[in-house]
Amino acid sequence: MTASRITTPFGFTSTAAEVIAGVDLSGKRAIVTGASSGIGVETARALADAGAAVTLAVRNAEAGERVAAEIREGTGNGAVTVGALDLSDLSSVAAFAAAWSGPLDILVNNAGVMAIQELTLSASGHEMQFATNHLGHFALALALHDSLAAATSAATIGRSQTAVIFSMLWSCRVNMKNGMSSPQATDIATSIHQRA
Ligand SMILES: NC(=O)c1ccc[n+]([C@@H]2O[C@H](COP(=O)([O-])OP(=O)(O)OC[C@H]3O[C@@H](n4cnc5c(N)ncnc54)[C@H](OP(=O)(O)O)[C@@H]3O)[C@@H](O)[C@H]2O)c1
Repeated sequence: MTASRITTPFGFTSTAAEVIAGVDLSGKRAIVTGASSGIGVETARALADAGAAVTLAVRNAEAGERVAAEIREGTGNGAVTVGALDLSDLSSVAAFAAAWSGPLDILVNNAGVMAIQELTLSASGHEMQFATNHLGHFALALALHDSLAAATSAATIGRSQTAVIFSMLWSCRVNMKNGMSSPQATDIATSIHQRA
């Protein structure tokens, strides 16, 4: 077997529009988490511009609706909608996934929080950055598995940052102090593997 190097013409200064130029996503369905601000908005805009039906999965519905209206107007793509999703709350993740029906072609796990100054725990008792950036997205991808499998060639895209490793290590310490069971410890170890 011969190995070939994967190369890209894109770099740090490339824009989403440049990357997606010439790609036709008509008939494809996409979800972008955290698409009410920042990189999520531009990702959703690029996907909509390429013809995909895009759902902005956001916790701030008002901001999401504002962004969706702006993308619909700017791209001429009317299939841009909003769904309520709080990744730090697993019941919200389950509700979002339950409301989704049919195939899902593209899942962009973009939402996240970073460098929270004070130790903050989610409803399920996990450190908030770990709960939001990793556990929530993991649960979302799992809950949407059948829809992803039903698409012709689905893609799940995550963005990562080295800081998440520190968050996970801190989370391990916090959870261990709280008497975390070994299956939970295993979950975290698995997560570190998935992120690496
Ligand atoms: N910008 C960078 O240089 C950089 C570098 C490395 C990694 N990242 C990561 O890339 C992602 C996007 O970055 P950005 O600069 O666009 O950040 P941003 O503007 O802060 O956007 C983050 C998005 O995530 C959403 N979010 C946070 N917690 C959530 C939760 N519990 N449930 C659902 N949505 C939640 C936020 O919603 P609200 O508006 O409701 O808060 C916001 O829409 C982030 O995860 C960030 O950590 C960014």
